Amino acid sequence: MSKETRILIICILTALTATLAVTFAACRYLQVRSKAPAPEYIFFYAENQAADYPTTLGAQYFADLAYERTQGRIKILVKHSAELGSESEVLQQMSYGGIAFARVSISQLAEYVPEMNVLQMPYLYDSSEHMWRVLDGEIGDDFRNKPESYGLVGMSWYDAGARNFYSTKPIEKLEDLEGMNIRVQESEVMADMISALGANPAKIVYSEVYSALEQGIVEAAENNWPSYESMGHYKVAKYYTLDEHTRVPELQLASKVIWDTLSEADRQILMDCAKESSLYERQLWSEREKSSRKIAQAAGVTTINLSLSEKQRFREAMSSVYSKYCGEDMDILNQIMEY
Ligand code: GCU
Repeated sequence: MSKETRILIICILTALTATLAVTFAACRYLQVRSKAPAPEYIFFYAENQAADYPTTLGAQYFADLAYERTQGRIKILVKHSAELGSESEVLQQMSYGGIAFARVSISQLAEYVPEMNVLQMPYLYDSSEHMWRVLDGEIGDDFRNKPESYGLVGMSWYDAGARNFYSTKPIEKLEDLEGMNIRVQESEVMADMISALGANPAKIVYSEVYSALEQGIVEAAENNWPSYESMGHYKVAKYYTLDEHTRVPELQLASKVIWDTLSEADRQILMDCAKESSLYERQLWSEREKSSRKIAQAAGVTTINLSLSEKQRFREAMSSVYSKYCGEDMDILNQIMEY
C-alpha cells in the first residue's frame, strides 16, 4: 500500500469517528431533553431594555431561579428591548393577564397607581443608600403592595440610579433650561417637573428618544448613565449635567389575574426568586453605572457638575411639584426625606 493510500485511509477513519461521536452526543442530548418534564406554565416577562442591561439580566436570573426551583414546571420567557410593547402598553396588557410579568419604571406605573407618585418626587433621597434604606424597610413594603388593588402584584424593587439631564448644548444653570424642549417619559409628574424648571416637556416613548434628539425635535432628555449609554443617546446629546434630580426606582410586577391562578407555594417561590434577583440586579447596576459613564466620556461627552448653589435653585424650582402630587401624602414625603 502506498504512503498516499495509507494517509487517505487514516483521514477517512478519523472523519468517520468524529461523525459517530457527534451523532452519539446529539442522541444523548435529545434523550436527556426529552426526559425533562414539559412545563406546566409558560409565561412572558416584558422588559424594555436591551439584552445585556442590568434589569434584563436580573429578569433572566429570576426566570432561571423559578425554573430550577419548580423543577421546570414554571418557565418564564424574558422578552427584552420592548418586544412586547412600551411600558404603558405592557401595563395595560398585564391588567387582564395578557402578559404575566414585567419590570417597569415607577414613573410609568404611577400613571396607573397614583399613590406611587411620592416615590418619584425630585430630590427625595440624598443618596442611593438612603433610597435603599427606605425601599428595604417598612415604607418600601407598604408601597410595593399598593399596585395590588389595581391588578398588579409588586414583587421586588430594582435599581435605576439617579437621573440627570443631557442635552445638545450645555446646561450649567437654571436659565439654560428656559424654553428648551426636553423629552420626558409618558408621565404627568415628569412633565410638570420640566415645566416648573421653565422648559417645555415632550412626552416621547423610550424607544423614540434617540431619533427625537438626532432630528432636533427635542434638545435634551434625562436619564441615568446606563440608559444614556445603552440607547446611544450619548452620541447625539454630548452634554451630561449631574443634577441628580430624581432617583426613580423600578418594580418587578406580576399580573394579579395570573398570580391568582397559582398555588400559594408557587407564589412564595416566585416572590423569593424575585427578591433574590433584585440583589443580583443591584450589584450589576453599580458596575454598569461606572462602565457606561466611562464609555460615554471616552466618546467625548462633557460632564457638567452643577455648583451647590445652582443645584439648590433646581431643587427650589421643582418643589411646587410636591404640593400638587403629595398634598395628602406630605407626612410620608417628610418621613422618607428624614429616614
Ligand atoms: C429608564 C427605565 C426605563 C424607562 C426609561 C425612560 O431607562 O429603566 O424603564 O422606560 O427610563 O426614560 O423611558
